[in-house]
Amino acid sequence: MHRGYGIAGALVAGALCFGAQAEDKVTFTKDVLPILQENCVKCHRPGGDNVAGMVAPMSLMTYEEVRPWAKAVAKAVADKKMPPWFATPKFHGLFENERVLTETQIKTITAWSETGAARGNPQDAPTPVKFEDTGGWLTGTPDLIVKMPKPYFVADDIEDIYSNFVTEPLTDEQLPKDRWLRSIEWRGDSDVVHHIVGAASVKDDKGDTLTYELESIAPGEEGTVFSEGYGKLLPKGSKIHFAMHYHKEAGPGTGVWDQSMVSFRFWDEEKDPKVRFAVARSGISNFTFEIPPNHGAWPVGAAMTFEEDSTILSLHPHMHLRGKDARYTAYYPDGKVEELLWVPSFDFNWQLDYTYAQPKKVPAGTRVEFTAHYDNSTDNLYNPDPNISMQWGGPTTMEMMIGYISYCNTAPSDNPMPAARRATGEGTD
Ligand code: HEC
Repeated sequence: MHRGYGIAGALVAGALCFGAQAEDKVTFTKDVLPILQENCVKCHRPGGDNVAGMVAPMSLMTYEEVRPWAKAVAKAVADKKMPPWFATPKFHGLFENERVLTETQIKTITAWSETGAARGNPQDAPTPVKFEDTGGWLTGTPDLIVKMPKPYFVADDIEDIYSNFVTEPLTDEQLPKDRWLRSIEWRGDSDVVHHIVGAASVKDDKGDTLTYELESIAPGEEGTVFSEGYGKLLPKGSKIHFAMHYHKEAGPGTGVWDQSMVSFRFWDEEKDPKVRFAVARSGISNFTFEIPPNHGAWPVGAAMTFEEDSTILSLHPHMHLRGKDARYTAYYPDGKVEELLWVPSFDFNWQLDYTYAQPKKVPAGTRVEFTAHYDNSTDNLYNPDPNISMQWGGPTTMEMMIGYISYCNTAPSDNPMPAARRATGEGTD
């Protein structure tokens, strides 16, 4: 794949035949474009992926588009800023949604930029990639889209606001019976949506409300797709809950209408394998921390213990602007300790899911610790104010500490029981 570093070979070939040297030069069409197609253009194209508000600033589909960015592209890949991925190389290969370039690919791009960013022979170019039109949904073409009950005006004077919206029960036409979800994707309808926490609720026989957690979305997150045999239940007659966090600058003329939505895809009961694993998600959280002013690396920890043999499907650290790093560690009942994930430079704009390619089985009694550091110093360019101590709080300028963890029971069940919270009120969350 990588050419131009075989110096001895190039010299010999060059001595024998002038043409061979030109062929060995790193070019866009032959060497660089295939890498960009595989790793970049999903986001970097016109109408590219809107990853919960993170939209790539330029298209990288053609030579004309990439040429002016050659230096920036080389720097972004050499610094490992792009493609966006924040786990250390130690975890290489473990997560199916991993986005990384090989060292050879990085060298190819930097060599191309340093040697004058040549176009090369147009005939070397791979066929352009085609993108399925899913209406912008990253998880695929939806079976059902549900919107907030009505548009909401995020008024001029608002900087941060939390608002809950609950739809009417889904109709028989929308959802004729209980269905298992194969994907869930919340979508902000305006750029003032910071995050959405989702849920479904139904009344049980006694009239109590049962609430089912239905994922969430924050900047840089792509929505949730379950593997075959896994899912979350959407009960017939559910109301859909939107717990919205809106964030913007306050001021005259900044008000925005918003009617965010969620898309669902269902497992096909006839064609797809039966769902035998109901997926639950917990947040490993510490609500009582206090980060001192001007502290560069304040540690905060929290833990949960699995009561049953469980299978971990994904991890997802959530912090705000002072978040510096995050670690998940498993303490097994036999005394072994294993680092599950280490994100040394947490980026507030990329709230990623780390989804296991091979789900991680852990025995009952395993304790998972989530530890994070916060940078409340002036070194942190995002820090809104280093001179105050900081606690848990909703606004983006305050902090959160949530180690999300998605899992299911390891034992399959022909009648999997989704985890539901019981509430007597309406619109809880
Ligand atoms: C998941 C979507 C996504 C993927 C995949 C992705 N990018 Fe980006 N890229 C973005 C977004 C969003 C930004 C702007 C925000 C930021 O810098 O984080 C960006 C910014 C950049 C910038 C910085 C532009 C500037 O202002 O200097 C460069 C260069 C870049 N990307 C190159 C690449 C290359 C090269 C690849 C593939 C190796 C790639 N990106 C893969 C979404 C993506």
